[in-house]
Formats: sequence, structure tokens, C-alpha cells
Amino acid sequence: MWTIIRKKATQKSTILELGCGTGYNIQKARDTGIPFRHYTGFDFSEDMLKQAQEKFSGEKKVKVLQKDITLKPGKEKYDIILSTWVFSHLETPSDVANAYARQLKRGGTMFLLFLTRPAWYIHFWFYPLLRLFAADYVREEEVAAMQNKKRVVKVIGGLGTLVEIK
Ligand SMILES: C[S@@+](CC[C@H](N)C(=O)[O-])C[C@H]1O[C@@H](n2cnc3c(N)ncnc32)[C@H](O)[C@@H]1O
Repeated sequence: MWTIIRKKATQKSTILELGCGTGYNIQKARDTGIPFRHYTGFDFSEDMLKQAQEKFSGEKKVKVLQKDITLKPGKEKYDIILSTWVFSHLETPSDVANAYARQLKRGGTMFLLFLTRPAWYIHFWFYPLLRLFAADYVREEEVAAMQNKKRVVKVIGGLGTLVEIK
């Protein structure tokens, strides 16, 4: 994902992250020199946002806002939209993916990395942990319902799926 983002991103790029948490990906983009004009992170957790806001206070190019991504997106459009390890917390991930895909600028790309059911020997010990965190695998039907997919790649023995949407 980051290899493609690095190739796509320019100083003019606007980036939106859905469920930015404490800002791990923002930090990664900034510290590895991925160019962007503006990086916005949405998260609905006050605790997570507080930590992210502390990290990026004083950085004009970064904005982290409280927003539930299952609610209607705003009007702003972005060059790159990304989300990592968030969609397994959503009831209907495809609705969120399809709604935010409409917030992509022409030629923009969305990258979604989320948990999916892995091989049985991983599922066996991983699933109880997942349920402990009130999360679940994103079902195959949900992945199928995501529109305008350019690429779907299984990672970590199927535990993760990366979807690229145009
Ligand atoms: C496992 S963390 C991942 C954080 C970050 N994306 C990362 O990879 O480090 C999941 C995050 O999704 C956020 N989240 C879950 N459901 C959400 C929703 N409906 N709207 C906004 N944020 C949400 C949680 O608050 C949490 O910060």
C-alpha cells in the first residue's frame, strides 16, 4: 500500500484517513517523507483523537477530526483515501467504502486494509482475540459489494485483505 501511495503522492495531494486512531499512519507518511498538501484523519474515539492531536499540534498540514465514518461523508474530495484495520469494526463496511469512494477526486485512489477470515490454523487462535475487541472479519460478500475495485490482495495468510478502489 505504502509503495503505491509513495508513487502516487505529490506535494499537491490531499489525503484522508478513515479511523486514524492515534495517528500511526500519519506519522508514518510524515516520517518517511511521503509528500502531501494536506492530511485529514477521522476517528470517532475521543481518547484516540486526543493522542493524535497532541502528536500533530502545530502541524498545519495535518488535521484530525472527530467523525463517525458510518455517517454521511462531507463534500470535500481527496486524492488518496486510506483506512487500516478499521473496517472489521463496521456493520456494513461496503456501505462506507462506497460512500467514501464518491469522495475521491478524478484519478484518486482508496486503499482499505482490513481483517478477513484466514486459514483455519490462524483463525483458531485469532478469532477469540478479535471478538474480545468487538471486531469481526469483513465477510467475502462485503468485499464483493465494494464497487470500482481495481485490486484485491490477501496478506498475512489471508488474515488481512487490501482493496484498492478507483
Ligand atoms: C484498530 S484501530 C486502527 C487505527 C489506525 N487505523 C491504525 O492502523 O493504526 C481502529 C480505529 O478505528 C476507529 N473506528 C472504529 N469505528 C469507527 C467509526 N465508525 N468511525 C470512526 N472511527 C472508527 C477506532 O476508534 C480506532 O481508532
